[in-house]
Amino acid sequence: MISSLRLYSFRAYDEAELEFDPDFNRIVGKNGVGKTSLLEAVAHLGYGNSPWSGRTVDVIRSGSDFAVIHGIGATRKQDVKIKIKRGSRKEVYLREKRIPRMSELLGVFPITAVGPQEIELVKGSPSIRRKMLDSVLCQIDAVYTENLSRFKKLILDRNSALKGVRSGEMKGGHVLIDSIDENLAPAAAGVMEKRELLIRQLHAKSSEIYREMTGGRGGALELIYKPTVDVEDKSVGEIEQGYYNRLSARRKRDLDTGETVIGPHRDELYFGKDGEDMAR
Ligand SMILES: Nc1ncnc2c1ncn2[C@@H]1O[C@H](COP(=O)(O)OP(=O)(O)O)[C@@H](O)[C@H]1O
Ligand SMILES: [Mg+2]
Repeated sequence: MISSLRLYSFRAYDEAELEFDPDFNRIVGKNGVGKTSLLEAVAHLGYGNSPWSGRTVDVIRSGSDFAVIHGIGATRKQDVKIKIKRGSRKEVYLREKRIPRMSELLGVFPITAVGPQEIELVKGSPSIRRKMLDSVLCQIDAVYTENLSRFKKLILDRNSALKGVRSGEMKGGHVLIDSIDENLAPAAAGVMEKRELLIRQLHAKSSEIYREMTGGRGGALELIYKPTVDVEDKSVGEIEQGYYNRLSARRKRDLDTGETVIGPHRDELYFGKDGEDMAR
């Protein structure tokens, strides 16, 4: 959470100092006052660069040689300063210490930037929504990151084993798939459990904000996790067992297609308003 932001020669801002509410902030103003500039500055603190504009130097206010973004958060680690100069490398400081790699910035201020371009998040393919979930969770949860990468690798292993068994090239393939499934299930369950929790929290918060903004006249906003196995009110152990059982039950059909169709790689995220699918 960013509690204060200082800007110097950044986009629409000459010099500015802003304080934020820890819960929810709404930025309202006429065209050209600096709303987008502000969001772009915040995005820099999370990503080290702009999620939208192409050239880094474009953010420097015309007439100035450099721009500074300085964000401070609630925890001690959350002190990020970015200096963008014309004609030289961008300088990134974490608690006043210059960092050599931008990757050290990841997770300090976890961030998700959603602009008008991101309508694809609702209208586009499910993989765009899964990427968004992964981007959020990987920034805040190291265990999730590990489960996700293990799952992705094991799914590839499983699919190639399925193909190997189908073609008859892989002797003992079934035993291999057994052992893959045993490892796949806990990794997948860890991923689905965290996705479900995040979406449940996002749903509660976003529907509350939406209701407040529309005075209740905009209908109900729905954000629903649709995994390929049942996760509702289940412990991670139960999810794992359920997934493992589904994998076993489907093995024969998976062998026909050479593809695993149950798992978080096929998760869907539903955006709805008053029961109507917003993707349509
Ligand atoms: N690099 C820059 N130098 C000077 N002014 C800029 C720069 N980039 C954007 N602006 C100015 O910022 C204003 C737009 O701010 P913006 O944050 O997009 O406003 P809003 O989103 O509130 O409509 C415009 O007046 C634009 O000219
Ligand atoms: Mg704007």
